[in-house]
Amino acid sequence: MAAEKEAVEKVKLTVLADDYAGYGSRLWAQHGVSYLIEVERKGGKETILFDTGTNADPILYNMKTLGINPSIIDLIVLSHNHYDHTGGLLKLLQAIGRGNIPIIAHPEIFKTSIILRPKLEVVGLKENTREEAEKLGGQWVLSREPVKLTEAVYTTGEIERSVDFEREAPLKVYTVENGQLKVDLFLDDLSLFICLKKGILVVSGCAHAGIINILKQSLRLSKASGIRAVIGGFHLVGASKKRIEKTVEAFRKLKVEEVYSGHCTGFQAEKIFAERLGERFHRLYCGLTLNFEG
Ligand SMILES: [Fe+2]
Ligand SMILES: [Fe+2]
Repeated sequence: MAAEKEAVEKVKLTVLADDYAGYGSRLWAQHGVSYLIEVERKGGKETILFDTGTNADPILYNMKTLGINPSIIDLIVLSHNHYDHTGGLLKLLQAIGRGNIPIIAHPEIFKTSIILRPKLEVVGLKENTREEAEKLGGQWVLSREPVKLTEAVYTTGEIERSVDFEREAPLKVYTVENGQLKVDLFLDDLSLFICLKKGILVVSGCAHAGIINILKQSLRLSKASGIRAVIGGFHLVGASKKRIEKTVEAFRKLKVEEVYSGHCTGFQAEKIFAERLGERFHRLYCGLTLNFEG
């Protein structure tokens, strides 16, 4: 990985889908994640759509309201297979209306994923999504390894699990392997990191692999000196207070400059992040635009 010394000039991240619309907002919220990431580098600009929410309609409505044309999207990254990150994919491909749109994801994204409580429900990709996406111009790029999207922008690839308090995921999902029901280890969960001159931005979907595991891997791959900001869902809904405390403490130890979180982080965790990090913690909402200089 040659991320060292690479840096983008500017990054603009716009929240197109989050569970919170924002106070006094004209935009539509939904359960899910979708961020538009516009990256300016020397000699070019790329636009990445990170996740596609549960439903494309609120995303397209928000884009129209914000004056963003879907045709500017160059490529799509899917953080994992859950419906609240992949449900809008087909309609968004249709709205982009072009061929050869790379969709970067982990090869296990097509696995069966089910929850058993309160009742059995399929939470993964809808049947035939693979073929339907291809018909609409999508080209799957399935990799367990990190993928370089453009200068200084990478996916993390499959996340190494090394943090002891993140061994068990707060969410119980099952998958089917050789006709047997197995606990889903969320191996398909990947994130994105962007190198600035000083530090990196890390963008997570649900962080089922553990947000601290994700931050450690992003630092390892980028060889960056620090983390400028972490943006995304941390899936601490249902996590114990002890785990939340340890997570927030790890953010402090890693000297994360700013945290922007929403979606599945959960009220308990947001409250503790806000108490411990003060003004360095921000709640994500639809239409929020973040600008970073390289
Ligand atoms: Fe999610
Ligand atoms: Fe998820």
